[in-house]
Amino acid sequence: MSDTAPALEARRLSAAYHQHPVLEDVTLALPQGEWTAIVGPNGAGKSSLLKLVIGGLTPLRGELRILGESPAVQRRAGHIAYMAQQEHMEWEFPISVRETVLTGRYGLMRQDPLWQRLLPRHWANPSHRQAVEAALDAVDMAEHAERPIGELSGGQKKRVLLARALAQQASILLLDEPLAGVDPPSEALILATLERQRDAGRTVIMVTHDMPSARRHADRVLLINRQVVGMGTPEEMLSDAMLARLAVGAASGSAYGGARAAA
Ligand SMILES: Nc1ncnc2c1ncn2[C@@H]1O[C@H](COP(=O)(O)OP(=O)(O)OP(=O)(O)O)[C@@H](O)[C@H]1O
Ligand SMILES: [Mg+2]
Repeated sequence: MSDTAPALEARRLSAAYHQHPVLEDVTLALPQGEWTAIVGPNGAGKSSLLKLVIGGLTPLRGELRILGESPAVQRRAGHIAYMAQQEHMEWEFPISVRETVLTGRYGLMRQDPLWQRLLPRHWANPSHRQAVEAALDAVDMAEHAERPIGELSGGQKKRVLLARALAQQASILLLDEPLAGVDPPSEALILATLERQRDAGRTVIMVTHDMPSARRHADRVLLINRQVVGMGTPEEMLSDAMLARLAVGAASGSAYGGARAAA
């Protein structure tokens, strides 16, 4: 991994579902150690961009590099953690908060020597437990660690999913709408957690519709609507003029057209 390579670099990247283009000629570079908010209307291809990184979608054309290497190499090396927009979780499944967060370590556990993997859990490599406890603490869910996930509120569920991503201790965090549908205290906690991650040198790449949070917390904003509309500081990108450009091609009545959204 190179210290100077962008966290994410796309060159003329295009992607499609069944010939239907969702990203076209996307060229951009997101530096390491910064918090980037990706903003765009519904259907703009934001989730698709993250899916290209995690291997859920294959590029049609162009190039995508993560820390100077192919995404597959960086995924195998454990450098990419991901929190999906819609988690296909079976919330009623009888599994505790702690066990759910531990699933974030499964990829890394597979890299432990076989003898260690065969040990009872309390003798296994302690780094997994430590990472889980640190992640639970980070999202203030340690006191709920033994509760079944089905008992949690919407905001608590999001915090557990964030903890699962944090438990990977990856250098790049890809978060698809981590603030959607959460209560204000959980939102504040998630934002504070991400701030600490960024301050610890991690790269945070967050898709969001929450303009005030992007304005307040992100180092840079990427505006996307199938193509790159702009990239720069939150002040520049979340201006009325830029949001109006972003809304071109979006449904009328979109939240991207006016001062209200930029406030
Ligand atoms: N698995 C899929 N199969 C076919 N089309 C898809 C699939 N996933 C997404 N699409 C379509 O691709 C386009 C881009 O979707 P994407 O989910 O990347 O948008 P988005 O910017 O994340 O939108 P939102 O803000 O609603 O989450 C949309 O038109 C969507 O309907
Ligand atoms: Mg999406």
